[in-house]
Amino acid sequence: MKIVNSFLTSSVGKKILMSLTGLFLCSFLIIHVSGNLLLFKNDNGVSFDLYSHFMSTNLIIRTIEIGLFAFILLHIYVGLLLTFTNRKLRPKNYKKYKLSETTTFESRIMRLSAVLVLIFLIIHLRTFWFEARFLGATSQYKLILTSFSNLYYTGFYIFSMLLLAMHLKHGFQSAFQTLGIKNSNYNTIINIFSFIFWFIIPILFASMPIYIFLNK
Ligand code: HEM
Repeated sequence: MKIVNSFLTSSVGKKILMSLTGLFLCSFLIIHVSGNLLLFKNDNGVSFDLYSHFMSTNLIIRTIEIGLFAFILLHIYVGLLLTFTNRKLRPKNYKKYKLSETTTFESRIMRLSAVLVLIFLIIHLRTFWFEARFLGATSQYKLILTSFSNLYYTGFYIFSMLLLAMHLKHGFQSAFQTLGIKNSNYNTIINIFSFIFWFIIPILFASMPIYIFLNK
């Protein structure tokens, strides 16, 4: 217990936890984007609604969903802890330093994109997940059509996917560095793997609102 405690209170421990929760959340994104590809099926949303009904009523999926939310909260909590620890470790008279000398460009991008992706997530969950779970919306497809017929909402999604891409790109780099698998023999595989995540997945997500907006 003492070992676990000192691991979690150490900066390295927090960074490892941050990387592992981040990588777990990425695996959710693959499942989410794959299921959402049904939006491209030309059947008036029948397949998408069947899929979404299954996802929201299956007991195993509902249990995994609790784990997913726990991981999201843990990722945010450890991220905040790391930010505050880093601030405390700054030299006392740091005001004399320029911001660029005390925080790297990478970490500023990470923090800014993290906040904006979180805002996106809150709005996203409110629009779809909350409507279905708590307000009795029966067709997610209809909700999606209504939301993405709005130019501003569609634009907001596309912009958010750009931020998600930035967050994932830098997140992957620092996760692999933390886990000590950067510059290893597996460099090429790691680069392809991270490219799929930070580039292909946000592009697929962004293509959905664009497709729906243009075909409304
Ligand atoms: C065009 C892009 C997207 C569409 C159309 C979409 C659609 C949806 C829908 C319809 C739901 C409700 C599912 C249900 O009732 O079970 C949902 C849930 C959710 N979405 Fe998305 N989503 C998109 C992108 C994203 C992105 C980029 C993220 C993360 C950064 C994300 C995270 C989540 C989470 C955490 C949930 C709740 C968990 C769940 O029950 O599946 N979504 N999304």
